[in-house]
Amino acid sequence: MNTYRIATIPGDGIGKEVVPAGKEVLEALARTSNSFKFEFENFDWGADYYREHGVMMPTDGLDAIRNKDAILFGSAGDPDVPDHVTLWGLRLKICQGFDQYANVRPTRILPGIDAPLKRCTPEDLNWVIVRENSEGEYSGVGGRVHQGHPIEAATDVSIMTRAGVERIMRFAFRLAQSRPRKLLTVITKSNAQRHAMVMWDEIALQISKEFPDVKWDKELVDASTARMINRPASLDTIVATNLHADILSDLAAALAGSLGIAPTGNIDPERRYPSMFEPIHGSAFDIMGKGLANPIGTFWSVVMLLEHLGEFEAAKRVMRAVETVTADPSLHTGDLGGKATTAQVTAAVCALVEKVPVAA
Ligand code: IPM
Ligand code: MG
Repeated sequence: MNTYRIATIPGDGIGKEVVPAGKEVLEALARTSNSFKFEFENFDWGADYYREHGVMMPTDGLDAIRNKDAILFGSAGDPDVPDHVTLWGLRLKICQGFDQYANVRPTRILPGIDAPLKRCTPEDLNWVIVRENSEGEYSGVGGRVHQGHPIEAATDVSIMTRAGVERIMRFAFRLAQSRPRKLLTVITKSNAQRHAMVMWDEIALQISKEFPDVKWDKELVDASTARMINRPASLDTIVATNLHADILSDLAAALAGSLGIAPTGNIDPERRYPSMFEPIHGSAFDIMGKGLANPIGTFWSVVMLLEHLGEFEAAKRVMRAVETVTADPSLHTGDLGGKATTAQVTAAVCALVEKVPVAA
């Protein structure tokens, strides 16, 4: 019997509602398995912790989760704490501390979900965005001087390293190679950004030689937003810098029907550290504490977590349960135009996970 040690970090806002829901699904799954179980440890880090201790997580926090097999994360963000404090104090601390350099964001139109692109079928929109997750525009390098004076100046320096770009390109080409279409689009902006993005393009070309069976092309980031809408079927795997992919993945999630559905994995492909899985949606202050949050983004993240652990059958089973539930409009939450609560959607997915037998 395999025991997987999972850290749960609900964080802030609706993270506190969807992470327990994700844990319930994993528990339902474990009840039907005689090959694995989960051992959960919860960490109450986030804005409440910050109000009490002045930090989003303890200084030795990473040590407490270093030996976990995976992390299920909710969100970081609070109306009363500046966003850069919540982000850098928790989520980026974990992503950067554990060198989770590949951020993977799949997008599909799930059954029963009304996607805004009227000429687009679920077959046309099946993407996975690979976001560089350790450097670039999120390097945290920069400064601010002469605050409040007319001569005030501030910089946010985007740093790209050869090692950083090579490893994310290699990861993206490998992922593209593993998907049926073997198709990769490299997002760039080397027309305007004439140093780092030119290096990015050069490295893409260099790494492409290691993957002769992968078809690839290059697209400027601005043009790629139009392409996502006008020619969605021309895309499959997409690799982009930290900030470009941040923006494109919100567009992707909206085109697939709702931000409430979209999942993410912050992956350390070398498995030196635990990888972290989370819904994309953030803390959603407007609906927090009401039991209305859509837990599907977390359930899909749980699917990615299970795949990461090598539990492919279990992952398929949760995904099938999720798709059965999204296909039923009476189980849609408010973001999808329905009236269902977090608890109702969670109970439905758990029931299916416990019933549906594992496919041979
Ligand atoms: C995301 C989010 C975060 C990011 C926010 C909450 C800072 O938008 O995961 O895409 O930009 O990385
Ligand atoms: Mg984002």
